[in-house]
Amino acid sequence: MSKKTMKDVELKGKVVLIRVDFNVPMKDGVITDDNRIVQALSTIKYAIDQGGKLVLFSHLGRVKDEADKADNSLAPVAKRLSQLLNRPITFVGETRGEQLEKAIKAMSNGDVVMFENTRFEDINGKKESKNDPELGKYWASLGDIFVNDAFGTAHRAHASNVGIAANMKDVVAGFLMEKEINFIGNAVDNPVRPFIAILGGAKVSDKISVIENLINKADKILICGAMAYTFYKALGYEVGTSKCENDFVEFAKGLLEKANGKIILPIDTVIVKEFSEFAESRVVTSDQIPADEMGMDIGPKTIELFEKELQGAKTVVWNGPAGVFEFDKFAVGTNGICRILANLVGATTIIGGGDSAAAAIKLGYEDKFSHISTGGGASLEYLEGKLLPGVEIINDKNCCCGNCK
Ligand code: 3PG
Repeated sequence: MSKKTMKDVELKGKVVLIRVDFNVPMKDGVITDDNRIVQALSTIKYAIDQGGKLVLFSHLGRVKDEADKADNSLAPVAKRLSQLLNRPITFVGETRGEQLEKAIKAMSNGDVVMFENTRFEDINGKKESKNDPELGKYWASLGDIFVNDAFGTAHRAHASNVGIAANMKDVVAGFLMEKEINFIGNAVDNPVRPFIAILGGAKVSDKISVIENLINKADKILICGAMAYTFYKALGYEVGTSKCENDFVEFAKGLLEKANGKIILPIDTVIVKEFSEFAESRVVTSDQIPADEMGMDIGPKTIELFEKELQGAKTVVWNGPAGVFEFDKFAVGTNGICRILANLVGATTIIGGGDSAAAAIKLGYEDKFSHISTGGGASLEYLEGKLLPGVEIINDKNCCCGNCK
């Protein structure tokens, strides 16, 4: 990676500001998936071991007014982190002010302070989300070094990443950020071939830029999910009541022409009469969907086809589930892709965050991939080939002055 990391700076005795992405799913104040916290542990433990004084901060959810505060406090996250680290953490229920400054001043080497949801600053004028210059400057004034480990937020230019960085000399990547950049960046820019992308999910419109970027880079693109129905329509097939974006049929047609055989579509589909977990289903070939039925998943022949296409692949990036995986009955295709990738020998397998990551974790394949990205929107934008502001602000490896970004 061409960016500086924590290993390039001396942390001992320094106040190390670490931006993490602890925007974890919660239900009634209970964390339902702590993966983002677990993934940040190596950065946090390293900074503790090096004798840094750690100040951790993150956003959580969207905060529009005072009423949103109760459901979006980071207090339960601090508690979970403390359990995982097996050490106390001082949680400050403020985003600025005397209490926070005092807590930081009182720290010894290896101590950890975490402060409240950065988006509490959005209540009066969206200071965090609009990158208010005074806020970034204030947060930067609290520390000596800025570690950005929040890959999941790297597509946002907010005060807690871009704003702070603009006011600090030492801006380095945490280990999770480094891992994400290495896996996704190398896969897209420097893949070991054959490089195969699997793109699923509901909408072509969500994936346009990814497909356009990868069509020039991947050796093959396997399309699945409801997105496939828009492609079927482009081929003149009946898609019944399946999800289909009529406005993108022409675009899909153009892509198929441009792809010159690189795009592989599902050859069979699991169909139902109504969108329900318990609907009776059957499998038809892709050009045989009746006018009053809809597709819910890829069929068994497609799973076989995908398995054949994936044999020998050396780099695989997957983004977007193959069907309505939230319903067990229609998770067979997504499960099948998980199984195929888990058994690929000698391949680097990457899940580009979002629903496909949630599906792989839900289906028990958490440890079976080379990398499961913690970024949803961020990994999608990275796959689109965009520069992410939260990555761009990190000092280059050969930076001498804090301005070589
Ligand atoms: C995410 O979950 O994708 C990131 O934490 C960014 O969150 P946001 O979409 O609320 O900015």
